Amino acid sequence: MANKRGFTLWFTGLSGAGKTTIADIVERNLRERGTRVEVLDGDIVRTNLSRGLGFSREDRITNVLRIGFVANLLTRNGVGVVVSAISPYKESRDQVRRRIIDFIEVFVDAPLEVCAERDVKGLYKKAYSGEIPQFTGVSDPYEAPAAPELTLKTDEESPQESARRVIERLEFLGYLKISDDDED
Ligand code: ADX
Repeated sequence: MANKRGFTLWFTGLSGAGKTTIADIVERNLRERGTRVEVLDGDIVRTNLSRGLGFSREDRITNVLRIGFVANLLTRNGVGVVVSAISPYKESRDQVRRRIIDFIEVFVDAPLEVCAERDVKGLYKKAYSGEIPQFTGVSDPYEAPAAPELTLKTDEESPQESARRVIERLEFLGYLKISDDDED
């Protein structure tokens, strides 16, 4: 049965922390349950809605506020929105939180060393060598959330476990019906 209440699940964390991986699993799970879902991923948004923006503080804030604007439109129309963006500044995340009533902040938390070791996109190597300036966590700030609705320690749990905890939180908060067949 389709969900009636929209929500925004906002994944924040360092590059390589696992935001997109977990968001993908959560998206699939929500679709299987008949939830209407839209995904707003920083990497993709930056090829269209935020095309041309860079990684200065100002541009990152603009990016986050744009994503928040779209997320709000969708959320208030009953869509389950899954955002995954580094969104390094607390102030802009809080600004979005104030606008979106049904806002669930998920801190995808992995130590910098672990993200740099994973280096899925090869960007940390370039950041440490100075080839990429202003890289989050290396040469640019990341302000961890003080009171997220959920924290996922991705160096201690698998993406499947993390995704399951997200779904359980949505159930707990009343956005999803508790499923009888939560088998994995
Ligand atoms: S945010 O800071 O504005 O929220 P967003 O999530 O949209 O960032 O984009 C981050 C992605 O851009 C990273 O996953 C990475 O692929 C790429 N990227 C390129 N340059 C940088 C940089 N200087 N800092 C962080 N990410 C970068």
